[in-house]
Amino acid sequence: MTQDQLKQAVAQAAIDVILPRLDKTSIIGVGTGSTANFFIDLLAQHKMAFDGAVASSEATAQRLKSHGIPVYDLNSVSDLEFYVDGADESNERLELIKGGGAALTREKIVAAVARTFICIADESKLVPLLGTFPLPVEVIPMARSHVARQLVKLGGDPVYREGVLTDNGNIILDVYNLQIDSPVKLEEQINAIVGVVTNGLFAARPADLLLLGTRDGVKRLG
Ligand code: 5RP
Repeated sequence: MTQDQLKQAVAQAAIDVILPRLDKTSIIGVGTGSTANFFIDLLAQHKMAFDGAVASSEATAQRLKSHGIPVYDLNSVSDLEFYVDGADESNERLELIKGGGAALTREKIVAAVARTFICIADESKLVPLLGTFPLPVEVIPMARSHVARQLVKLGGDPVYREGVLTDNGNIILDVYNLQIDSPVKLEEQINAIVGVVTNGLFAARPADLLLLGTRDGVKRLG
């Protein structure tokens, strides 16, 4: 199976999990990235079964709208049963690194509101220890150098992601070579640096369910 076929399989598995729990009033949180795109395209086949979606990025909002799925502002939504999104890395505790697509802040906000966070990923994303994938940090532009210096003090090697502005108008520092033994602690430490909007560790609020695409089928963790 190709990586795309694994992504397609986990996207379908997420549909199978949520579909029986949807009704005409349901609003679904939808993530960003290539795996989330497979999910959006499959979700569109069931658009009469739910009300609409909240998007974690402008790109996702556009893709949802292109399928005729209504997109709601999160502030107008009081209940979000599911958030479905990909990840760059997951450990066995379903703590994640996200933000490869620079959408980490909105993703973290939607995940915080959702009652159930379903992560969909191919098997390459499951790792024993987080940190091989460089940790994305969204930063207010004027704080870039200050935040980079603080990240070096934490043992990382921050690299400015050239030419990328987030949907919130901020920049991304990708932090290499971090020892992520305590994801919750590091998430807090980085978020406490003045000028950081958020970082791509999803550990304080990990996923609730990981659907992992493997050559032996979709595995469920959590
Ligand atoms: C975007 C993300 C994505 O979920 C993450 O980068 C995984 O993307 P893909 O499904 O394309 O591998 O966090 O900010």
